[in-house]
Amino acid sequence: MRKNIVAGNWKMNTTVPEGVELAKAVNEAVKNEQLKCDVILGVPFTHLTAVKQVIDINKVGLAAENCADHNSGAYTGEVSAPMVASTGANYVILGHSERRGYYNESNQMLKTKVDLALEAGLKVIFCCGESLEEREAGKVQDVIKQEISESLFHLSNEQWANIVIAYEPIWAIGTGKTATSDQAQEVHAFIRKLIAERFGDELASNTTILYGGSCKPSNAKELFAKPDIDGGLIGGASLKAQDFMGIVTAF
Ligand code: PGA
Repeated sequence: MRKNIVAGNWKMNTTVPEGVELAKAVNEAVKNEQLKCDVILGVPFTHLTAVKQVIDINKVGLAAENCADHNSGAYTGEVSAPMVASTGANYVILGHSERRGYYNESNQMLKTKVDLALEAGLKVIFCCGESLEEREAGKVQDVIKQEISESLFHLSNEQWANIVIAYEPIWAIGTGKTATSDQAQEVHAFIRKLIAERFGDELASNTTILYGGSCKPSNAKELFAKPDIDGGLIGGASLKAQDFMGIVTAF
């Protein structure tokens, strides 16, 4: 059976003390709940160690938002997968459209990052999604297929068990324009079909596929009710514990 997951992606927000307070609030809120999903916090590199200290890692997973495409060496300013793992984080978000767009991360580079993250023992939340232009040109499936196959389809079945997919249509991120639950379901079902073709039905059916893009307490329930939507990757609404919990409890 696949897991439901609600993961926060704080992006480049909060100072360390602010992030620690937010993490504490989420940890408190989930502590005594019997949740129907796993909860993960995706936080800036600078926050990982401090946040790790205030969460119960068995209840709240911890993700970095990126990692380097090398393990160590003369790469000033970069943070490697083994460094992330050494903070106690158990996940890394890779391939977010902001990384692809602003920092020119290619499918090839992401393939390397995925390999290094898995090698370091991290689970990967791998993001994919089309721009509005690509959607209007009828290229949604082509874009998704290329992103997923070029960065992930070299993995073994065993490695695949550590991959979570996040479908994030770029036009829905931070814009307040959510994909309708039908639009999202259609792409999620396509992604699961792609995975089944490559890794078989069982692994495909065990893969968690998250939706991301203006997901909030008011629309989470409808999205999560769809058969192939197994949770969310949450940006803006993860910055307030109450909003984030409103999504976590949507299951
Ligand atoms: P958003 O961001 O929820 O603010 O739209 C989602 C994401 O980029 O992961």
